Amino acid sequence: MNANVDVRSLSSRELWERAQISLAGGVSHDGRFLPPYPAYFSRARGARKWDVEGREYIDYAMGSAAMMLGHSHPDVVAALVSQASEGTFFATVHPLEIQWAELVQELVPSAERVRFVASGTEATMLALRVARAYSKRPKVLRFEGHFHGWHDYVVQGMKTPYDRIPTLGVPDCIRETMVVCPTDAHQVESRLKADRQIGTVICEVSGANWGSVPIADELLRALRTLCDRYDCVLIFDEVITGFRWSPGGKQALLGIKPDMTTMAKIVAGGMPGGAIGGSAEIMRLLDPRQEIEGFKPPIIHRGTFNASPIVSAAAVAALKVIRTGEPHRQANRIAAQLRAGMQRVLDQLQVDAIVYGEASTFHVYFGQHARRSIIDQVPPDAIRSMKRDALDVYTCGLRKRGVDFMSYTGGVTSLAHTDADIDPTLEAFAGAVKDLIDAGKVTRL
Ligand SMILES: Cc1ncc(COP(=O)(O)O)c(C=O)c1O
Repeated sequence: MNANVDVRSLSSRELWERAQISLAGGVSHDGRFLPPYPAYFSRARGARKWDVEGREYIDYAMGSAAMMLGHSHPDVVAALVSQASEGTFFATVHPLEIQWAELVQELVPSAERVRFVASGTEATMLALRVARAYSKRPKVLRFEGHFHGWHDYVVQGMKTPYDRIPTLGVPDCIRETMVVCPTDAHQVESRLKADRQIGTVICEVSGANWGSVPIADELLRALRTLCDRYDCVLIFDEVITGFRWSPGGKQALLGIKPDMTTMAKIVAGGMPGGAIGGSAEIMRLLDPRQEIEGFKPPIIHRGTFNASPIVSAAAVAALKVIRTGEPHRQANRIAAQLRAGMQRVLDQLQVDAIVYGEASTFHVYFGQHARRSIIDQVPPDAIRSMKRDALDVYTCGLRKRGVDFMSYTGGVTSLAHTDADIDPTLEAFAGAVKDLIDAGKVTRL
């Protein structure tokens, strides 16, 4: 292939063919493939994005939920441009990382101290190391179907069968360190009681898969009580909910204080970055001046690009807007209208499906007897079991009508979505559902 050809002039099909011989599997993330080949995108602004063929989409993927302010928010762009000319990265301490940490501290109740990392996966990886060191116990309890990134410790339990590591390349011995549990307080307690090697509990506080399998607020409260009772470190994974459910995440909304919090996406202004926050006592383990049990620093943590100035600049600009609460008021209002409108579409088309979701998210469950179930009681596996061919019909049906969801279960809104987006979205949704009906892929009432 000629590396001098301007790839931006190629069509999605041409790009996909070219990608086969340069990128492993043609992609940079498992989830970005869509058969027969994915649409390639070249531009985004506000709530819209454009593929290389010039087609416009209303975007409900919003950078995997990172772009709470919309694409290219003027404050974030200005901060990036200004920092780019001052130097993007020095690999030293620098003033902006302090301002960024202070904003996180101000907004997130559990973040008495903050340490920055480069992604959500790194955030959960570091948080588990800190929690294990603090609790002095090796095992971690996590929940069925919850997603915490892709490192070795968190892959088991992210999908069925939960007792099996769902990927090649992770040593079987890791299994002994993770206890996968259903989202049920009694089952959590019985495991904590029976196995005193469990010293940490980690939870995706939206419920599995950014809330496609909802979690009860009472369970989150029970986790706090149980972690206190059994002396465990409670980690709230707020990579999605942080700065989205409220400026201070789901913990601020519910008034539940975990011991540690993992963050990414919005916390970094939609740039590559992440953070952990925790009590001053726990986070002391990351102090390079401390020596504990002969280890100085007590916990090793490196990472060339942690809190780089360019990411810090975007993050500070974004969190100043997040702090106002305006993005949440707008995004939640639009998401609520979409949820109501989509349910109306399903009712009119007499399809057995239910629309639900919290804050600025919406999910659709196309399941048998969906309407007669309380969504909380639908088994997680059922929610995620829509057949691959049906998903393709649905996702392509939306895309060909100019709408892109975050995944087949639904999407997220942002500060940039407006009332004007509602009708075209509902039309596209109705069209995609009719495609599913025509293909015989959904149950009719
Ligand atoms: C709840 C949760 N935790 C962790 C991660 C991993 O974050 P990243 O993709 O930045 O590694 C994600 C990613 O979507 C997530 O949703």
